[in-house]
Amino acid sequence: MSKYIAPSILAADFANLQRDVEMINNSEADWFHIDVMDGVFVPNISFGMPVISAIKKHATKTMDVHLMIVNPDRYIEDFKNVGADILTVHYEACTHLHRTVQAIKAAGMKAGVSLNPHTPIAVLEDIIKDLDVVLIMSVNPGFGGQSFIENTYKKVQQLKALIEYSEADTLIEVDGGVTDQNIEKLLEAGVDAFVAGSFVFKSENPTETISNLKNLVSI
Ligand code: DX5
Ligand code: ZN
Repeated sequence: MSKYIAPSILAADFANLQRDVEMINNSEADWFHIDVMDGVFVPNISFGMPVISAIKKHATKTMDVHLMIVNPDRYIEDFKNVGADILTVHYEACTHLHRTVQAIKAAGMKAGVSLNPHTPIAVLEDIIKDLDVVLIMSVNPGFGGQSFIENTYKKVQQLKALIEYSEADTLIEVDGGVTDQNIEKLLEAGVDAFVAGSFVFKSENPTETISNLKNLVSI
């Protein structure tokens, strides 16, 4: 099965966004990971529709949009219009998660659900078959550059077991603190898509760092 590397734009140089988007286009990365934060669901504010449109204008790869916002239902059509291919909402932000997931699919996108570090996998039992992606947060959402929470491996294994037991066709994505030191162990636990922000963009040669990560998960 294919494995995906998703550099997080949150760690890019926003004053040189086109350059960084082209870098990802020309690298071995698979997805653009795009973090939207509203200052309510998470303490931080990142960027919104105009910036995503600007990225889409140049991006040649899958747009993986991670919403860390309350009431995401209000904006599903808008995110489709600015170019999202995968739209991921937080379990903790959705009272009517089933309805939200169906609305994302009806708008023509793949549907993802993200879990905060404290949220158990079991809450997805009755919806797993409807999900294209589950995004496990391996840090508390809101900021790049935090350190990886070790309990993530166990959660990935539990999610993998749930997917297999349910005969679901769901990708497992992990987000936060991913480096060349933990990516192989994450692969072993069952991860399909790896988000990496700081580790890619703060490195000396981001293109090479992406290649290295890709090699570590290509077996
Ligand atoms: C955190 C974001 C992440 C972040 C990851 O709330 O969802 O996508 O950009 O950044 P690093 O890889 O630096 O932890
Ligand atoms: Zn993210």
